[in-house]
Amino acid sequence: MKKIIFFELTEQEKRILEKYPDFLELIDFTQEKLSLENVNQYVDYEVVSVFIGSQLSQEVLKQLSNLKLIATRSTGFDHIDLNYCKDNNILISNVPDYGEHTVAEYTFALLLCLIRKVYNAYHQVRETGSFSLEGLQGRELYEKVLGVIGVGKIGREVIKIAKGFSMKVIAYDKYPQEELAKQLGFEYVDLENLLSVSDVISLHVPYNKETHHLINKDNIFKTKPGCYIINTARGGIIETQALYEAIKNNHLGGAALDVLEEEGDLKEEQRMLMEKQDIPSEKLKILLANHVFIDLDNVIVSPHNAFNTQEALANIVIKTIENIKQFQISKPINLIN
Ligand code: NAI
Repeated sequence: MKKIIFFELTEQEKRILEKYPDFLELIDFTQEKLSLENVNQYVDYEVVSVFIGSQLSQEVLKQLSNLKLIATRSTGFDHIDLNYCKDNNILISNVPDYGEHTVAEYTFALLLCLIRKVYNAYHQVRETGSFSLEGLQGRELYEKVLGVIGVGKIGREVIKIAKGFSMKVIAYDKYPQEELAKQLGFEYVDLENLLSVSDVISLHVPYNKETHHLINKDNIFKTKPGCYIINTARGGIIETQALYEAIKNNHLGGAALDVLEEEGDLKEEQRMLMEKQDIPSEKLKILLANHVFIDLDNVIVSPHNAFNTQEALANIVIKTIENIKQFQISKPINLIN
């Protein structure tokens, strides 16, 4: 029996794996997400590779009694129960740096689309044939203040691009690196200060207990009126209700969200309704707000797509193979626990 299985494997990833026939021979793969519903078919595997659609909760992990390594094909690992893995000696490897350029470029794709109304213009011409400029006026980035929350691998690339637009950059990070600030030409400030002076705020922190609702109902109205928020990090970093209120009250200029709180549920909602199970009211509120967001003119929602370039995907697969090979020779790399 094979010991390794890849879940959520796309055709494109499979084509990349085919370039490594020795490795491909060792693995099973499926397009399915690993979930509580199907885990009983996979209980014997020692190495499981997933993407972010598989929720590796305690209930799921408990059934994988031989599991030794989870090789997530993502940077974020908030879909995995870290405590359970720690208590049960299950290693977790991630792909820490496959696509900082990819995500940083997408951040600006979203930002420009939002503030220059690129989608609205395109949609108008295509759908109505109208070349009217009514309602299509935007804002410049030139000399505006960009507030970057989290200056890690992606945040850094975002700052470099911002400099190309002659933006002034300030940043908030739990671990400031003054040398980096000097080198890239930005200044660290505290969160409150960043919120109050930024024309654009871009989020690049990981999602964890500390960053859960980092932007919330107590601080969102402290942002500069008309400010734009871009989130390519994780949905749970912004309190959905707070964002909805700040947009509805026209306090914010708009938001571009590649990630949503409970985005997994958004994809699964049809199934949730069919199952007639009780859905907690907090979850329902978030789901509802997500639907309202999707329809607002000054909000752009995309389907967790920031990582999605040919280059990044190839990097993810190659680095995941490396993570698994190193684990097999007892020299694991890129461990997050
Ligand atoms: P990184 O680990 O290189 O950088 C994270 C930065 O956040 C670090 O500078 C760290 O000091 C800072 N930080 C951590 N906790 C903090 C806190 N509580 N308060 C303030 N700062 C804090 O991570 P990287 O590669 O830049 O990625 C950032 C996030 O982007 C990932 O964790 C992931 O969730 C998300 N991501 C989203 C993708 C998408 O497709 N939308 C693709 C790839 C990553």
